[in-house]
Amino acid sequence: MKIRKAVFPVAGLGTRFFPATKIVAKEMLPVVDKPIIQYATEEAVNAGITELIFVISRTKTSIQEHYTKATELEKELESRNKHDLLNTITNILPAGISCAYVEQHKALGLGHAVLCARPLVGDEPFAVILPDDMIDDDASGCLQQMVQVYEQNQSSIIAIEEVNRSETDKYGIVSTSPIANGLHRINAIVEKPKPDVAPSNLAVVGRYILSGAIFDFLENLGKGAGGEIQLTDGIAMLLKKEPVLAYEFSGTRYDCGSKIGYLKATINYAMKHPELKHEFAAFLREHMQARQF
Ligand code: UTP
Repeated sequence: MKIRKAVFPVAGLGTRFFPATKIVAKEMLPVVDKPIIQYATEEAVNAGITELIFVISRTKTSIQEHYTKATELEKELESRNKHDLLNTITNILPAGISCAYVEQHKALGLGHAVLCARPLVGDEPFAVILPDDMIDDDASGCLQQMVQVYEQNQSSIIAIEEVNRSETDKYGIVSTSPIANGLHRINAIVEKPKPDVAPSNLAVVGRYILSGAIFDFLENLGKGAGGEIQLTDGIAMLLKKEPVLAYEFSGTRYDCGSKIGYLKATINYAMKHPELKHEFAAFLREHMQARQF
């Protein structure tokens, strides 16, 4: 089956960026000149996704507005012959891609956010992208890599990467049996285990392709780690019924949910930006020298 739909859970509180995210969703913070969410939707479209499903909170409406046609602004730019600028806003969503929105009435956890998308996803396999995990891959993008693996195996897949043992309590952690280079079968998954009890240092990263069967498990979950309804706990139940694969993607992940990850992502994308990279690199060099870092 083809993966047509991607769910973007963007209804978290974003407390680590308060006060910046008091009104604006964390996923609308810019990295250079695009909001974080747009990097994620571009990655999805590159992977062949045609239906974007956003799980949003009632109070932070800017994401919906970002993907809505800005008729007045477009007319204004047209009348001023600013065609390049016009392209930057009309190309946010390519032709043939649809957006749908569903509200998560309360931030009860990632598992609950994904469950909110059930009426829009139905029974088919679907992708989940956590936009604040930005993955820079100079080739096709992390989700496209995963779609290819899905097409060969027809099983749910989770992106993973190795983390420092001391950090296992920030992630979902898997124990696996290797299948091929970079591909594993998951035997167990646990949310935020302390380093001394973590089954490995292979951490779940914010890209998933999930079988529609996950919804029945999410429906019946109670609160897990941190008092939240955890997607990890739903996956732990899914893998008792179906194989779930873990995939070591190629690319660099930036945890833009944290300030340091967000700053690293900004530097990475600024250093690749054709108009900025030389001046920005020179500034960084001077700045480091002046401060004797
Ligand atoms: P995070 O764990 O980063 O939580 O959520 P958060 O609330 O966004 O940020 P902090 O920790 O308070 O700073 C991971 C992803 O899951 C979404 C978030 O929007 C983010 O994309 N999420 C989380 C929801 O959509 N709903 C929830 O109830 C929880």
